[in-house]
Amino acid sequence: MTNVRAAMEFSFPGISLDIARLRNLLKNAMLLIGQAPRMSPCILNLACGRADETGALIDAWSVAGHGGEYLGLDLRHAEICEARRRWCGAWRPHGIVEFRVDDASLPHRLPGDRRHDFIFIRHQNYWDAPSTWDGIYRNALSLLKPDGFLFFTSYFDREHELALAALKSLGASLWLDIPHTASRMLTDAPGKSVDKRLAILGPPEGHIPFRIESLR
Ligand SMILES: C[S@@+](CC[C@H](N)C(=O)[O-])C[C@H]1O[C@@H](n2cnc3c(N)ncnc32)[C@H](O)[C@@H]1O
Repeated sequence: MTNVRAAMEFSFPGISLDIARLRNLLKNAMLLIGQAPRMSPCILNLACGRADETGALIDAWSVAGHGGEYLGLDLRHAEICEARRRWCGAWRPHGIVEFRVDDASLPHRLPGDRRHDFIFIRHQNYWDAPSTWDGIYRNALSLLKPDGFLFFTSYFDREHELALAALKSLGASLWLDIPHTASRMLTDAPGKSVDKRLAILGPPEGHIPFRIESLR
């Protein structure tokens, strides 16, 4: 059973399967870190682009019928408009889905009045602009509940390692770092693959019952 249904199909062939695989990956990762979906979670999707994964995140992290809040944020206006057309209203009657064009590296542009159960960054882009992403990661960690989690995926192994190092240097605690064995390979760059790696981190000084450093 799915908690949300998109108002329109995805724009590119293959995306539905990528998203189904990502949903499985997230659900399995939740089991691996010993976490259950939450009642009315507060979810933040940073640098979300078209936010194709919106339904998968809500399915993996919320309890059906109990709603919650979801905010997606990106610099790109066109992508945010497409995300709104597809997902706004998809989590009714109890869930709220919103999108905003904004800069996630600027703390005052983020919802500082609340803490989040789950923050997601799909295909983070650390090597493109390290100082910007340092800002995004710092903000993300500061917006987590003490028992909240930051999930991120990467297209490339090297980029993933750079992001992990940056987050660890900010004090984040690593819960899980796993390769996505069902990931679809892309041909536009060597070693690139959809959601190739997934990492899960907790906030600095979070209340951590146990920790898995790596499964590999
Ligand atoms: C590799 S794309 C990934 C997009 C989307 N998450 C996905 O998986 O399709 C990186 C995204 O980061 C966004 N981005 C870069 N810097 C940002 C910033 N300072 N604030 C918000 N979004 C940002 C870009 O606009 C772009 O959509």
